[in-house]
Amino acid sequence: MDSKIFKKVRVVYFSGTGGTTRIANLMYKFLEKHGVAAEKEPLEHNNYLKNIYDIKNIDMIIILFPVYAFDAPEPVYKWTNKLPKGESKPVVIISVSGGGDIWPNSACREGIKKRLHKKGFNTIYERMMVMPSNFMVSTKKHLAIRLLKVLPSKTEKIVMEILKGKKQRIKPKIGGRILTVICKIEKLCARIFAKELKVRQNCNSCGWCAKNCPMDNIKMQNNIPVFKWGCIACLRCIYGCPRNAIYTKIFSFIIIKEGYNLDNIEKEICEIELESIKNINVGFLFKGVKEYLMEKK
Ligand SMILES: Cc1cc2nc3c(=O)[nH]c(=O)nc-3n(C[C@H](O)[C@H](O)[C@H](O)COP(=O)(O)O)c2cc1C
Repeated sequence: MDSKIFKKVRVVYFSGTGGTTRIANLMYKFLEKHGVAAEKEPLEHNNYLKNIYDIKNIDMIIILFPVYAFDAPEPVYKWTNKLPKGESKPVVIISVSGGGDIWPNSACREGIKKRLHKKGFNTIYERMMVMPSNFMVSTKKHLAIRLLKVLPSKTEKIVMEILKGKKQRIKPKIGGRILTVICKIEKLCARIFAKELKVRQNCNSCGWCAKNCPMDNIKMQNNIPVFKWGCIACLRCIYGCPRNAIYTKIFSFIIIKEGYNLDNIEKEICEIELESIKNINVGFLFKGVKEYLMEKK
């Protein structure tokens, strides 16, 4: 299908541990497949602060981000500040969570939606997508594998809906709105989180953490990573360190003990026989994940 409405689309995304990057890459691939000239823009290393933002030749922006404490991460807010006037340009907002469309997450796109609206953009479509959780509680193995397995078909379906001009605006639950406001405190906690990070003796000073921190918040000093005050707790340094040398004592409850590696989960897609989703007991936290996989939402 060749889109008559959208000829050129920019896919802007922030990702801490790679889940949102996978979705952004798939969006790009399917946009191109359906005849749209797409461009990708990862929000990394504060690049969005320096650019003079030009959107003249763009017909639509798709912004994707992981849900952090029922809200969008800081780089996405900073990016909206740099945008010029929207002049009714269409925007699609895709949030990516570990919990799916449960009420506490329901207001996670509101802050960004409001800012875009103030700038004169027109949110035409919004949606929650789900990836394995990287925070506090890990997603059960069979659910996690299924999430990666359905990702290409789900993403293509969404791209098709957008290109066909489907409108989708979602009203958040009042409880979700309240939680999003209360949990603004998470931003401060993330700053403190970095100051509590420790480095094990097995660190070989490779500098992976400093090179890959999306906030440029880690500097190598005397061959040891030093964490500054700009952390957003994306957890990339902890899960990505090639030696597993970064840890925290006070905030250890937010880290998944067995680590977080989407490539490892993906390898198992063909290897094991998957339990039927209906039979997996998920509890409240993963109710939204089950519904997402069962296509109710
Ligand atoms: C600091 C932080 C806060 C999070 N808060 C939420 C949340 O409020 N709701 C939720 O469902 N998932 C939450 N998550 C899980 C992530 O949204 C989820 O794992 C997402 O897929 C991560 O995307 P990424 O790999 O692109 O960083 C949180 C993760 C982090 C690191």
